[in-house]
Amino acid sequence: MTEAVLDVRGLGASYGATPILQGVDMRIAKGEIVGLIGRNGVGKTTTMRCLIGLLRATRGSIALNGQDVTALPSDARARLGIGYVPQGREVFPRMTVAENLAVGELIGGPKGKKLHDLVYQYFPRLADRRVQLAGTMSGGEQQQLAIGRVLVGNPTLMLLDEPSEGIQPSIVQMICDALQSVRRELGTTIVFVEQNLDTILAISERCYVMEKGRIVSAIGPGEVTAENVRQHLLI
Ligand SMILES: Nc1ncnc2c1ncn2[C@@H]1O[C@H](COP(=O)(O)OP(=O)(O)O)[C@@H](O)[C@H]1O
Ligand SMILES: [Mg+2]
Repeated sequence: MTEAVLDVRGLGASYGATPILQGVDMRIAKGEIVGLIGRNGVGKTTTMRCLIGLLRATRGSIALNGQDVTALPSDARARLGIGYVPQGREVFPRMTVAENLAVGELIGGPKGKKLHDLVYQYFPRLADRRVQLAGTMSGGEQQQLAIGRVLVGNPTLMLLDEPSEGIQPSIVQMICDALQSVRRELGTTIVFVEQNLDTILAISERCYVMEKGRIVSAIGPGEVTAENVRQHLLI
């Protein structure tokens, strides 16, 4: 692999005294779309929170484009190019669509305006609802906005936690298409947690499989099939 965009080694994390991550290893190259899969409660969200810096690593390291970011707070990691779309979306409910995007734009600098237009192109429903309060939109629309808010920050690495959760299939399809366009047009590297088989099959080039706080296997390029994936999704 050429130099990894994301290089995670032996990552550990705990909630209080309870160890959750027990040595997570992942290497992701530029422009890859990689799925992180596994049953409920194995530590997928905890991994994402550790990668963006909302949870401190108790051991191991996280490098972004060769730079060790393990000790940096989440805002510094965001400025270095990690964008995070959390599970459950968390858009600002009392701000409009445009205002939510403006907050994301603060991170990305001068490229923001162009990316703002691109977000409206990927997600026309957001363009129609620029002045609508985010909290009044459907779950699918809020997910598009959560992704758009990260995109306008021009991340080199996007982390998404269950982007299809609770969303109707037609919107899931739109989100899958948008993520593939993002990778193709902006060269963005994408790591996403998913439980939805169709989404995993649609966009991931390879997957890491997590069990009990560790990566226990990988599904390589060309091996991402329903048969190989489904067994890791059961609750
Ligand atoms: N805020 C928290 N405090 C304590 N334990 C938590 C917290 N969040 C998650 N956990 C526990 O950590 C484990 C991993 O959770 P999580 O990373 O959310 O799993 P996944 O995303 O794979 O479903 C689970 O046992 C869960 O109960
Ligand atoms: Mg989760």
